[in-house]
Amino acid sequence: MRPGFSRMAGSLMDSCIMELISVASAPGMVSFATGLPDRDLFDPEGIAEAASDVLSSDEARPSLQYGDALGFMPLREKISRRLRREAGLSVEPERIVLTNGSQECFDLLGKLFLDPGDGLAVENPGYLGALQSFSAYGPEYSGVDVGEGGPSMEGLRAALSKKPKMFYCIPNHQNPTGYSYGDDARKGVADLVDGSGMLLVEDDAYGELGHRGRAGKAISSMVDDAVLTGSFSKVVSPGLRVGWMALPEWAVPKASAMLEASCLQAGSFSQRVIDRFLEIRDYDAHLERQRKAYLAKKDRFLGLLSENMPPGVEWNDPSGGMFVWLRLPEGADADALCKAALRRKLVLMPGKPFHVRGGGNTIRLNYATPSPSETVCGMEALGLAAREIL
Ligand SMILES: Cc1ncc(COP(=O)(O)O)c(C=O)c1O
Repeated sequence: MRPGFSRMAGSLMDSCIMELISVASAPGMVSFATGLPDRDLFDPEGIAEAASDVLSSDEARPSLQYGDALGFMPLREKISRRLRREAGLSVEPERIVLTNGSQECFDLLGKLFLDPGDGLAVENPGYLGALQSFSAYGPEYSGVDVGEGGPSMEGLRAALSKKPKMFYCIPNHQNPTGYSYGDDARKGVADLVDGSGMLLVEDDAYGELGHRGRAGKAISSMVDDAVLTGSFSKVVSPGLRVGWMALPEWAVPKASAMLEASCLQAGSFSQRVIDRFLEIRDYDAHLERQRKAYLAKKDRFLGLLSENMPPGVEWNDPSGGMFVWLRLPEGADADALCKAALRRKLVLMPGKPFHVRGGGNTIRLNYATPSPSETVCGMEALGLAAREIL
């Protein structure tokens, strides 16, 4: 007889993200499915130089030692300055906690704030990885429908009437849809949430990847009880696992204790390498290269979609991030399209798992990862598969 898993393990959602990454990495496969940044945009020379600088300086031994549980202070200071300048968010470095990627923030926030049955308002659709983290803590989800420009205010009001503990949202180039909130929506969300007794959790994973700059001011800058999560994964390297959350002052001691209980601290070596990378590279120029490259990839991707998709299929033109949101005609089955595409060696991510309700006719397409030749092959497969099932 084996020991039974905990109730928490039982309430975890199935992970399809890692499964997709493994299917997509099989030889001959093309993938529009995952959320990986374009590896050609990594800067291995810059990272090597930064790592070598750290290891040949007085910082070498401290960088290999345990460090401050909340993270390397010079990096927290740089994040604080950048958030103030770029996102309009005034947050002291002492309120910024470095984590092992921003994914860890959702687990920590779940641990800190959610008991089974607590309300959690989320975008519908929303980021699957966060839903997986939160699900372990057994929340009752209220889905707030989201479209280009922002969430349904009526939906948000209805969700808030159930007194949730948190509202989790991605106002910039959302995963999975690529949608961004307009200025009015940001202000509208802030007005509804501020003072309501709940925590706003604003995920800014794609905030630096607006094709023409930042989509808007952080909503957290207009709300007292808000957490903003961010990451170097999409713009420097996901392998280094450096993310952060900017917390209200009252939440820092508990978050620090929770982080210590989970992992003692996030990796100090990676934090110092990123910190040095930001010093030796012109970070704005680095981001500008990425934005331009992703804009060119997106334009090409959308052009090929127009050439290959049969009538009745719709999609958006996102202003940044990595994703395009495909909508089949109402009632069409996106799972059938994914299977038909897989038979043609194209891996797709159905939109349904990102939803708390509906979404059976949607698919998330990543235009950032595939190379130009993979995009052409993948689009042919997508067009044939769509014609087969529609
Ligand atoms: C919206 C969003 N938030 C957070 C993450 C987590 O990324 P990381 O843990 O690498 O910072 C991802 C990763 O795909 C994401 O798409």
